[in-house]
Amino acid sequence: MRRVGLAVLTAAVAFGQAGPARPEVDTEAAERGKHIYLQFCVNCHGNLAKGTDQGPDLIRSVVVLQDREGGKLGPALIGLPNHKRDLTKRQLADVSQFLKQRIEETSKNRNAVKPPNVLTGDAKAGQAYFGAKCAACHSPSGDLAGIARKYDPVTLQQRFLFPRSGGRGAPTPKRPQVTVTPASGEPVTGALERIDDFSVSLRDASGEYRSWKRNPDLRVDVVDPYSAHNELLDEYTDADMHNVVAYLETLK
Ligand code: HEC
Ligand code: HEC
Repeated sequence: MRRVGLAVLTAAVAFGQAGPARPEVDTEAAERGKHIYLQFCVNCHGNLAKGTDQGPDLIRSVVVLQDREGGKLGPALIGLPNHKRDLTKRQLADVSQFLKQRIEETSKNRNAVKPPNVLTGDAKAGQAYFGAKCAACHSPSGDLAGIARKYDPVTLQQRFLFPRSGGRGAPTPKRPQVTVTPASGEPVTGALERIDDFSVSLRDASGEYRSWKRNPDLRVDVVDPYSAHNELLDEYTDADMHNVVAYLETLK
């Protein structure tokens, strides 16, 4: 079974804002991407990107779903037989925006008679997977009770894959917590504001901003509330993803 890869970002990150919102579709980029799609992809993946007998549905493709700005799409195209390999970064990002727009349109226009493709999984298998991998942190009768009423199926899938992303109706993304322990002194814990090779800053429970220059004697421990979700991204197979969504969809 195909596994879902995850590129890990290790650059300095600022957490000063509420966190990255769910990326909106850039309609201009999507429009440019549409032209590229119509030129190079439509014959096999179809007008709506929902697939033909020449090529699979891209709306439910894990590669497309996880793509940001072409970073996954580019390498995927290079690895696929008979695919165009020489799209520029900008073209890839544009196609990615076009496909993202298609995903959003599909979720908006979903029709009650024909359930959307994200619900092709097996809810029972999803429940078993949930019991093994999710139940340590979530409960179907606790924090996730009624989650399927809160989100449509496509958003539900996005939420469990990328809970950090926030967005309409979603809880405010949680900030990483950091504990800073100077060589001589008490540890200080708070919400991480910023960290790079040279300094670290946090806001403590009383709202006070604290900052340190980093040096080998300063111990810094960051706890990312989403680390479990990030790691799970590397584990899900296509089947797991669809099974979990089918199960979550039963939590009405
Ligand atoms: C000649 C037909 C054809 C054309 C043209 C084509 N594809 Fe495909 N594409 C396929 C087929 C067939 C597969 C499945 C191949 C496989 O799984 O080994 C595929 C798979 C993919 C996948 C992987 C889907 C997944 O999740 O497994 C992506 C992404 C994709 N195509 C994107 C594109 C894009 C973007 C373009 C245009 C730049 C394009 N394709 C053009 C036939 C085509
Ligand atoms: C180690 C703990 C942990 C594990 C394991 C875990 N999660 Fe989460 N999950 C979280 C945290 C923390 C959040 C963010 C909650 C918040 O923002 O209120 C979250 C958010 C979510 C959300 C979004 C909730 C919302 O209201 O939008 C869903 C859905 C979800 N997780 C499903 C899953 C599923 C399915 C699994 C197993 C495949 C899983 N989680 C495994 C900790 C975990």
